[in-house]
Amino acid sequence: MPTAEERIAELRNIIREADRKYYVLDAPDLTDAQYDKFMAELKQLEAENPALVTADSPTQRVSGTPLQDFPSVRHTTKLLSLDNVFDLEGLRNFDKKIRDVFPEPAYETELKIDGLTVEVVYEDGVMVQASTRGDGVTGEDVTGNVRTIRSIPLRIPTELSRLEVRGEIYMPKDSFLRLNTECEEQGRAPFANPRNAAAGSLRQLNPAITASRDLSAFFYEIQFADGREFASQAEKINFLKQMGLPVNPRNALCRNIEEVWAKQEEFLAVRHDLPYDIDGVVVKLNDVSAQTALGETSRCPRWAIAYKFPAEEAETILEDVTLNVGRTGVIAPTAVLKPVQLAGSVISRATLHNFDYIAMKNLLIGDHVVICKAGDVIPEILRSLPDKRNGSEKAIPIPEHCPTCGSAAVRGNGEAAYRCINPDCPARLRESLRFFTTREAMDIEGMGPAVIDLLLEEKLIAGIADIYTLNMFQLVVLDRMGAKSAQNLLNAIAESKKRDLPRLITALGIRNVGTRTAQELCKHYTTMDSLMSATVEDLQKIGDIGPVVAESIVTFFADEGNRALIGRLKEYGVNMELYQQETLPQLLAGKTFVFTGTLSSMTRQEAGEIVRQLGGKVSSSIGPSVDFLVEGTSAGSKHDKAVTLGISILTEQEFLVMTGKEEAAPAQNEEPEQLPLF
Ligand code: IVH
Repeated sequence: MPTAEERIAELRNIIREADRKYYVLDAPDLTDAQYDKFMAELKQLEAENPALVTADSPTQRVSGTPLQDFPSVRHTTKLLSLDNVFDLEGLRNFDKKIRDVFPEPAYETELKIDGLTVEVVYEDGVMVQASTRGDGVTGEDVTGNVRTIRSIPLRIPTELSRLEVRGEIYMPKDSFLRLNTECEEQGRAPFANPRNAAAGSLRQLNPAITASRDLSAFFYEIQFADGREFASQAEKINFLKQMGLPVNPRNALCRNIEEVWAKQEEFLAVRHDLPYDIDGVVVKLNDVSAQTALGETSRCPRWAIAYKFPAEEAETILEDVTLNVGRTGVIAPTAVLKPVQLAGSVISRATLHNFDYIAMKNLLIGDHVVICKAGDVIPEILRSLPDKRNGSEKAIPIPEHCPTCGSAAVRGNGEAAYRCINPDCPARLRESLRFFTTREAMDIEGMGPAVIDLLLEEKLIAGIADIYTLNMFQLVVLDRMGAKSAQNLLNAIAESKKRDLPRLITALGIRNVGTRTAQELCKHYTTMDSLMSATVEDLQKIGDIGPVVAESIVTFFADEGNRALIGRLKEYGVNMELYQQETLPQLLAGKTFVFTGTLSSMTRQEAGEIVRQLGGKVSSSIGPSVDFLVEGTSAGSKHDKAVTLGISILTEQEFLVMTGKEEAAPAQNEEPEQLPLF
């Protein structure tokens, strides 16, 4: 049995290391529940042995260490953390301490968004700085990046000389899934959960990368408002809303702690239906003067508490591992699990990523394993339970051959993945066909996986180009394919011939070339022929293209089979050129713009054309449905109206960055004095 002193030292080390992994490396190795348990034990031991409390204990400071990469920002008001409770009793204790002083407390109950804190400062209504929390006192300056988050206004309708607001930046679950697919396609390590993806996306030195990630935010706290007092938390939330800052619509005012508990149950029931992750609820005493009277400890307010939802983990058995061959030949292992109920669904499979991951997790077939839903979405094995082994477990063999065609499986230099070396592997062909027809590629409606399997089985197609040789006679005789669906499919195939060049390049499934890279390539190469004759050196002259991507492209086009494929596609009339209309990514879909004043790099008409090409609308007057006012020089009265309505106001430069016509300046140069907003 270790002494209290020894255990305290051990716990502090565990927590410090976990903090470093979580905050600095964005690669947590403990679950929240494990971390909370260690922290609770340390707090308990320190409470029992006050003489052992030291200033550097993790209980005595707000956790986190600022990264070195960004300029530091000293927060004028400390960004506090929250104490946690895990059950009704914990909540009642919190309530009891408050009722000892304030007999009838009302509480604002808010969703605890699982993202990362951001503080945004507005001076005279203009965003001048955004920073991460860091250690609560000093954070990182991420102004340039936060400015790329569309839901956070650059300007708000207030006369206050200084307003500091606090919120949570998050990545919606579906954007996280999309980003991870993209990462895997490009051979980059996927993010563990949406929180890490949000943190990784925000801490990018190049704001263009942040801008390309779908981040969003909810605001929940006013750190400082010069010359303005708020009587209650509800009033603060209301003010944030009036400022046009995103505020969670589910926040609710409760009359007592029992109502808070009922609200929490309501939130828990909808948790999995929400488009973003939450990990609990935050309960805040509503009355601000009572908050002030209660004050705070060195790291947490006494007037607020986080109730953390129970960790959703389940134990099951790893029954088998199946291998799937992807379109690039990557052999991906998937865990087959004894079906188990978790977070609202039955789980029978989990991704294992690659064979290094299997080794790192020390997994054997037959193991008892603990699973969770990473970021609430993808089932993942957290750990195996080696103590439960009985000797019958079997190692998971590293594949020497492709499970589909039996060709050699090899591991590329510096890669985690094993790949089938046979370019004609039927599994690769099937996946390539599937990918070619998907929405982000050639978008052939009606040609889903089942139809592709059927066409392959019936030997109507043996490669991508064969799609364009299909005819009515072949299709109508197929099972489950009537004349009408056959005609629809043929129409969709014919329609796909008109797709723009970036889609076709994406659809070819060139290694390391996803949608974004394809679009980037087409800014420089406007025909397939010109791209095909580009050298590695030529390609590397494009900003975003590094040596690996350039090499992949050149290797792809050097292959006889690939050249023949392109030749056939051309022959069947598939478009091989870039054309501008309707094919650009619809970045501005659903957004309405108004232009005012004189623009320096284009006419207002041209600017409007850019908006329309990107799926947005242009209006001539300011109204509630307008999202952005773009101001040139000598702008008139529209400005004041936009401010009153809380419409975001952009400079021409910001508009150009938003529409991808111009690179954003690097974060360090985004000082407000150098880049005035208006
Ligand atoms: S209030 C004094 N409200 O949870 C104010 N925090 O575990 C302290 N969080 O660092 C924060 N949603 O990053 C607050 N509605 C909410 C929140 C929230 C998420 C995060 C925040 C904080 C952490 C504490």
